[in-house]
Amino acid sequence: MTELTDITGPATPADPVAFPQDRTCPYHPPTGYAPLREQRPLARVTLYDGREVWLVTGHAAARALLADPRLSSDRRRPEFPVPTARFAGIRDRRVALLGQDDPEHQRQRRMMIPSFTVKRASGLRPAIQRIVDGLLDTMIEKGPPAELVSAFALPVPSMVICDLLGVPYADHEFFEEQSRRLLRGPTAEDTRAARARLEEYLGGLIDAKQRESEPGDGVLDELVHQQLAQGTLDRAEVVLLAVILLVAGHETTANMISLGTYTLLENPARLAELRADPTLLPAAVEELMRMLSIADGLARVALEDIEFDGTTIRAGDGVFFSTSVINRDPGRYEDPDVLDFHRPARHHVAFGFGIHQCLGQNLARAELEIALGTLLTRLPGLRLAVPADTIPFKPGDTIQGMLELPVTW
Ligand code: HEM
Repeated sequence: MTELTDITGPATPADPVAFPQDRTCPYHPPTGYAPLREQRPLARVTLYDGREVWLVTGHAAARALLADPRLSSDRRRPEFPVPTARFAGIRDRRVALLGQDDPEHQRQRRMMIPSFTVKRASGLRPAIQRIVDGLLDTMIEKGPPAELVSAFALPVPSMVICDLLGVPYADHEFFEEQSRRLLRGPTAEDTRAARARLEEYLGGLIDAKQRESEPGDGVLDELVHQQLAQGTLDRAEVVLLAVILLVAGHETTANMISLGTYTLLENPARLAELRADPTLLPAAVEELMRMLSIADGLARVALEDIEFDGTTIRAGDGVFFSTSVINRDPGRYEDPDVLDFHRPARHHVAFGFGIHQCLGQNLARAELEIALGTLLTRLPGLRLAVPADTIPFKPGDTIQGMLELPVTW
């Protein structure tokens, strides 16, 4: 595996670099992005279909442009850029929150904020701890070895989001499979079908909740018995909100748990430091978020000409934000390729920035602290069960993480 400090190759900015690319080491930006790291704050890149778009690579530029209302998140716009052919198959579909611009976005976001505050996430900590303990009990009983993604990294956030939303965990195999296909299906048709199945499933669940005289205590129950009942949201909107909350609520955090564990095991000095001083945990989670930047390609389209840093982003231009490159801007972070739990990493853009900044970030932080902290405490001998470079990880055009993580202890 690549050493943490040895990833920048020679910079040869000639033709636009292809974007996105697969990582060569799962916790570093692709080596093919080396020229982009020399082109800050903006670069030109080429997408899978030959289209040229902007790539934001500088930290200050990212925060300015992610907060700029002239960049739209509406995936239905014909010029909205997609990183891979299969996402072109769902570009005509509305996406709640993430795919909305203000004022529609703000209306939906305001309704969701009370369910995702720091206080609400803190209140969930005992339940998260119970889930983590239960899964580790089972893993320890059955092992070693274990496949950490299926035994731990995926079920933790999946169970937590089910509890929070009021979705039956008994259906997890179905919705995990559809989410996987939505994010990584082989074809546009597969992606489209997965989305339709998720909408149908969650629509049925919402109808069932509507028929209940005594509402449950999940977020979807609240949406059904308050917003839907009062007419401030219609059924289609509740379904779309349910889809994004369910998918974003488990796939992302699962990848951070698997890739975070892998990264710590591959960096034994940092792992030992964290084990010796568990108070470092919140800082370690923040630094891992920065380093791993698992959502590495936020997309926007320009609604009008934007003058930025002596460059004109034209109306209709596609704009991507590479969080892995932005979060390693040496103008913002000293020795950005070094994993350092003592640096102030908090201003990274791994959760985005601006109006779409991750709604679930407080929940994700709580899950990551509890999952990683408990895993390391309960399994002091945790190590990879196979050579690191044989472990498969996800391709560059989706959320980054491990496909499998065989471990022993
Ligand atoms: C470590 C895990 C996570 C990462 C890395 C992550 C990353 C992100 C990023 C980068 C964005 C902004 C996308 C953009 O601007 O285009 C975002 C938005 C969002 N995330 Fe997360 N996320 C995580 C966990 C969660 C969880 C647990 C939930 C729970 C429901 C969630 C729900 C959302 C939603 C609803 C949005 C859209 C917000 C809006 O448009 O207003 N995320 N996330």
